[in-house]
Amino acid sequence: MEYAVHPYEIEDLQHIADIEKECFAHPWSYDSFCMEYADKKKHYYVAKSAEGKVIGYGGFAHVEDEAHIMNIAVTEKARRKGVGSAVLKALIDCARSLGIKAMTLEVDDSNAAAIAVYEKAGFECSGLRPHYYGWDKPARIYWLRF
Ligand SMILES: CC(C)(COP(=O)(O)OP(=O)(O)OC[C@H]1O[C@@H](n2cnc3c(N)ncnc32)[C@H](O)[C@@H]1OP(=O)(O)O)[C@@H](O)C(=O)NCCC(=O)NCCS
Repeated sequence: MEYAVHPYEIEDLQHIADIEKECFAHPWSYDSFCMEYADKKKHYYVAKSAEGKVIGYGGFAHVEDEAHIMNIAVTEKARRKGVGSAVLKALIDCARSLGIKAMTLEVDDSNAAAIAVYEKAGFECSGLRPHYYGWDKPARIYWLRF
């Protein structure tokens, strides 16, 4: 499958919100993504198929000299084709180009797919945040230091 990763544009926001709804039990709304878009400290990338369809996205918040990954998601049909990893690489490259020193994120301890993607990219687990996603649903905290 052919695809390319680009910084997001305003016309991508509805497609991002649609993927978000497909992928998460508590999705961010279209309005939330509009607010992200207006915030110069937020950096998002989209993966688009050869036909121009948004098939994945991810973004981070630039806080001091760290990047906090907000989310990464790929439409179900486009998974296991390297799209999530390609979006993550774009975020890492962007963070490096901004002089950021480290990236961090929280991920559900039971989310094997996301954990595999982050670990493949070199992120290391630094511990658990108990009850982060609900009672008895801890988050793993990951860091990638440049
Ligand atoms: C997590 C997610 C973004 C991964 O996207 P993806 O495009 O399928 O990931 P990739 O194709 O780049 O996968 C890279 C590697 O990660 C591992 N991996 C990916 N999905 C996996 C799965 N379901 N189970 C085990 N390993 C998996 C594999 O090693 C894979 O390489 P391989 O296919 O060559 O074996 C996608 O599953 C998704 O959108 N999930 C729902 C939303 C979500 O949970 N986001 C993360 C929030 S923190």
